[in-house]
Amino acid sequence: MRHLVIVGILVLVVAILTSFGLHSAGLLPVQASEQARSIDWLWNLEVTAISFLFSLIVVPLLYSLIIFRRRKGDSSDAEHVEGDTRLEITWTVLPLFAVLGLAYLGAYSLAETRRVDPDAMVVDVTAIQWAWKFEYPELGVTTTELYLPVAQQVVLRMESPDVIHSFWVPEFRIKQDVVPGHLTEYRVTPSLVGEYKVRCAELCGTSHAYMESPVVVVEQAEFDRWAMEQQAQAAALDTPEKRGEVLAANNACVVCHSTTGTEGIGPTWLGLAGSQVEMDDGSTVVADDAYLAESILDPQARIVKGFPSSIPPFSFSADEVADIIAYIETLR
Ligand code: CUA
Repeated sequence: MRHLVIVGILVLVVAILTSFGLHSAGLLPVQASEQARSIDWLWNLEVTAISFLFSLIVVPLLYSLIIFRRRKGDSSDAEHVEGDTRLEITWTVLPLFAVLGLAYLGAYSLAETRRVDPDAMVVDVTAIQWAWKFEYPELGVTTTELYLPVAQQVVLRMESPDVIHSFWVPEFRIKQDVVPGHLTEYRVTPSLVGEYKVRCAELCGTSHAYMESPVVVVEQAEFDRWAMEQQAQAAALDTPEKRGEVLAANNACVVCHSTTGTEGIGPTWLGLAGSQVEMDDGSTVVADDAYLAESILDPQARIVKGFPSSIPPFSFSADEVADIIAYIETLR
């Protein structure tokens, strides 16, 4: 009985010291999301439980090794113990309830991290070998840095065109795989302004270790300012002329129509808009918008003198035609 009391006290003391040591070791990075709360709570509970179990096993073991060791000259056998039914039932039933309790808390914590806020901001995430791309459909913004307003739930809709990646911001605690051909969801409510990093947590090829992007959590006002800046930048690139240039390149228009003044298979586009063009029937037309649109959609309607009439018609929407003409008008 005396030994039991001593061991009991020692178990408690060692458990408290172990738990204190583990908690002050700073094993977790800073907590920066609402979802991290229930996860950290569960983590702390488990660290405490682990400290107690460690002490419960190690203290009686060391105590027995030292106190009940074989004395010099003692060659007798130890006392024979048949077993103890009450003790065996206890150490079966108690852990059973402990494990069931932890399972419940784990499920509860998981549900907490998945709690849906209907007003969550949507960000479409693409994980590719070896980079992250973030699109804000509500803002019309695409970036390589994830900007998030504090205290606002965001739902990341994640897709991968190549292999499995994993979205992990340690400060947010949650981790989610990004799987090809499957849309995965990640909900987070940042709770602390600061700069973090998303890193890929799934081995995905030679540059896996470098697959990281900045994650910046800012106040709502700062986020709005950033969004407007991004939109202005995107708008500067999204002009009719720029779109027309891309269309002309993607549809190989510029293979036959040079933009430098050199006559190719077709007339050059340099200085074309507004100029007088001689047709193969001897007439002359002004290359206005209507003429250019006709020449794009139905090239054989009127053929410029000296060029082949075999060119096929192209299929573009009215907006695309307007964009291409806007581009041609910049070539002077
Ligand atoms: Cu993507 Cu590792």
